[in-house]
Order: sequence, then structure tokens, then C-alpha cells
Amino acid sequence: MFQVPSHDPVVIAGSTHRELASRIAAELKVPLGRVRFNRFSNENLKVCIEENVRDRDVYVVQTSCPPVNESFMETLILIDALKSASAGRVTAVLPYLPYARSDKQDEPGISVTARLVADLLVTAGANRVLAMDLHSPQIAGFFRVPIDHITAIPVLCDALVKRDEGAARVVVATDIGEAKDAGRFAGSMKLPLAVIDKRRSGDDEHAVPNAIVGDVKGRHALIVDDEIATGGTIMEAAELVMGMGAASVEAAVVHPVLSGNAVERLRASPLRRLIVTDSIPVPEHKRDPRIEVVSVAPLLAEAIRRIHGGHSLYDMASRR
Ligand code: R5P
Repeated sequence: MFQVPSHDPVVIAGSTHRELASRIAAELKVPLGRVRFNRFSNENLKVCIEENVRDRDVYVVQTSCPPVNESFMETLILIDALKSASAGRVTAVLPYLPYARSDKQDEPGISVTARLVADLLVTAGANRVLAMDLHSPQIAGFFRVPIDHITAIPVLCDALVKRDEGAARVVVATDIGEAKDAGRFAGSMKLPLAVIDKRRSGDDEHAVPNAIVGDVKGRHALIVDDEIATGGTIMEAAELVMGMGAASVEAAVVHPVLSGNAVERLRASPLRRLIVTDSIPVPEHKRDPRIEVVSVAPLLAEAIRRIHGGHSLYDMASRR
């Protein structure tokens, strides 16, 4: 006789961030779904779902980190395999979306690759998407399936509020685009806001902070940004606020991309602490005592719980 099926969500880990997927599964009190990955000598990948997912509500946890392109191909094959295995509904849980920065046609003849990524995920069979702190809000509109775009800003705020250092602080936005998020961050921490006027030209990865609107003198500056990639934006912002007389400087960032020589830059910078989330794993060789990681597993687990149960995510939504 067959058993009555369980209605728990099924959490499947891609190979980019098994640790985060395991934490999410633990929060949800479900085991990780069993999957086998075979990588062949011709670099082809075979994914085999070793779990009964028939008609189940499945959540594939896969972030974007090196090797970015290979990992994305794995995501597509994994989703396709789940559809082959008759999964009822597949939600792609993407803490950091691949190619999120390629979100606009800012010069002729280029691919808006974030849109292509969205199309490919849907073509592979994703029925829904759960994303976190997308580089820009319009990316959510690239998906032809429902997307929940949540924010980890409250997770970072909580981590900072827990250690009240009794200092006069000021939240600093790295540019005008980040001012809305940083403003919310400042609002929930009841702190003043300063905004850096930053200029970037074309695909030049070098950002130039120009001036600050707001007062940082004598205050402990807390720079807020959605991601740290090469570190140029944050480190130069840190130099600028210190040059403007800040007492100290630290940064709170959602996505620790830490590409290029970001960690060397961090070590040579006046930044006393960098708080990031585990939306992307920080490998051993990129760790530094100044980098503190807070987990978004409880946040993502709560989002999955609500999606699975058909409840609203309104209060978790990003308002970028
Ligand atoms: C820019 O629009 C973003 O908010 C980040 O400031 C940027 O992506 C960080 O890049 P990097 O660390 O390479 O300066």
C-alpha cells in the first residue's frame, strides 16, 4: 500500500552553496533532497534526481559564484531534471542572481544578459523565482513567471543593532542609486544618512566618489551597498569618509562577490569591519578577520515557508 504523500517542501541544493541550502533545510526541518551530479571528461554534466519529487513543491537553492557560467548551466539542467522527474512546482531560489549587473542596454549592441538569464530559467522549467536584493528592481520584470524579490537589509540591521557601540553613527550610501535602500537602513536604525556622489563611465570597473551630501565628521560611518565586487566602490568610499573627518568606517553589504583583488584592497583600507550575508559563499582564501558573515538562511526559509503555504511576502519585499 502507498503512503499518504508528505506535503513538506523539498529543498534541493545546487553545488554552488550546499551549506546555505543545508541551513535552509534545517530551518524548515526537512532533509535536503537527494541529487547526483556526474561531471564527464568532456565537461558535460548529468544531474539525476534521486528523490521522489512527483507533484511536490520543490525549491532549488543555487547562487552565483565562480565558475559563474558553469554553475548557471548546472541550475538549468537541475531544473530540467526536476521537471523530468515530475516535480509539481519548481521555485528557483537565487540568493544572488547571475549577471544581475547586466540589466540594461547602456550601449548599443550588447546583451541585457540578466533578461536572458530570466528567459533561460523559465525555459528550463522554473515555475517561480525567489530572489534577494537584485541589483536593480527592473530585473524582477524580466521574469515571465511569478517572482518574490525579498531583501536581507533587516538581517544586516539586526546584526548591527545587537552590538550597540554607543557611538554616534551615520549611514552612508555609496551612490544615489543606493540612497533609497541606505535610507531605509538608516530609518530602521534611527540614524542620519549621507550620500556619496559617485561617477562611473561605461564598462569601466573603476568608480570615482566625488563628494558627500550629509555630515560624517566625527561620526562612525556605516557604508551600505547591495554588493561588493572588486571592492573599488566601498574602499574608495571608505577613504572619502575618513578624509571628510569620520571617526571610523565600516560597511554592511548584502552580496560578498569579492572578485579581483577585493580582499587585498580591504586589507589595505581604513575599513575596520565588513558585514556581509552568506548569499554567496566566502571561500577560505578570501576570508579575513574583518569580514563578518551573517546568515540569510532563516530569511530564505521563512520566504519558502510562506510561498509553500500561500502566504504574503509583502513585509519581506525589497522596495528598491
Ligand atoms: C553599483 O551600482 C553597486 O551598488 C555596487 O556599488 C557595485 O556593484 C560594487 O562594485 P565594485 O565593488 O566593483 O565597486
